[in-house]
Amino acid sequence: MKKKVILDCDPGHDDAMALLMAIASEKIDLQAVTTSAGNQLPEKTFNNARKLLSLVRREDIPVAMGASRPLLRELIIADDVHGESGLDGAELPSPQIDVLMTSANDLMADILRNSDEKVTFVVTGPMTNMAIFLLSHPELKEKIEAISYMGGACFGGNITPQAEFNIYVDPEAAEVVVKSGLPVHMFGLDVTLKAQLFEEDVKEIGTINNPVAQVMAGLLNFFGRTTTQPFMASENHVEGIHMHDPCAMAYIIDPTMFTTLKKHVDIDTSNSISAGSTIVDYDEVLVGDKNVNVGFDINLPRFRELVLDTMNYFTK
Ligand code: RIB
Ligand code: CA
Repeated sequence: MKKKVILDCDPGHDDAMALLMAIASEKIDLQAVTTSAGNQLPEKTFNNARKLLSLVRREDIPVAMGASRPLLRELIIADDVHGESGLDGAELPSPQIDVLMTSANDLMADILRNSDEKVTFVVTGPMTNMAIFLLSHPELKEKIEAISYMGGACFGGNITPQAEFNIYVDPEAAEVVVKSGLPVHMFGLDVTLKAQLFEEDVKEIGTINNPVAQVMAGLLNFFGRTTTQPFMASENHVEGIHMHDPCAMAYIIDPTMFTTLKKHVDIDTSNSISAGSTIVDYDEVLVGDKNVNVGFDINLPRFRELVLDTMNYFTK
């Protein structure tokens, strides 16, 4: 039975791979794509999502733009990682469909109201839209199967020493999600830094004879240069390209690919040096409820195989 999924994303190179995985998977029935402000400005991530759906000729999937900024804080973007367009490194087709005059919140609500089955949300950017939906439609919470998100870290950070970008952009939104009482699956840096593609993977993708794989090879070459920090590699260690967002989607496709642990998770919504950090009670020293299923490890060969299968799917 296919799982109905709504992808809320800020494409974004790794968001793009998560989207393509959803399109290619026989396990996923992608109901809609909603876009958030994060990697780039809201108009750019919105148009990037439309371009990606045109690239795979799935303009039947509705796309709607979400909030233009975080709930309370000023927007910061990651143009240093994803470039001026948000998807630098490849040319994508212009979107062929008219813009839906529906907001992400209304599109999410329409889909859940009209669905006979529960719907899973996969969130791969700041969680502003997810939080707004939970706060504005409590009556539809029962139609949510789970929320699988890329964000946070039990240990470490990438935008500050303690905070990961998606959570740091909108900590208040992340707090709404982790305290929602819903099944929440977190794929933070602990596991996403292990979800790596290597030069040989990118080269193999570049030999696959379809326009999607050719675009992704270009995107990965760009992303590999901006996301892999030089200090991570050494003479006897090759650091691959960190495929953060696809982890949140891959878990819905095949949860056995991951090692996860239920832990108490809270969000630092202060304005201190630790702002935006995810407090994961790894050693269970608090009494708090284990509200989040946290990813800690990945079967990397199977992940890489899923990526290649996704790229080959578009050769028809
Ligand atoms: O920290 C990684 C996250 O930030 C990913 O979602 C990436 O797309 C960027 O948004
Ligand atoms: Ca993202």
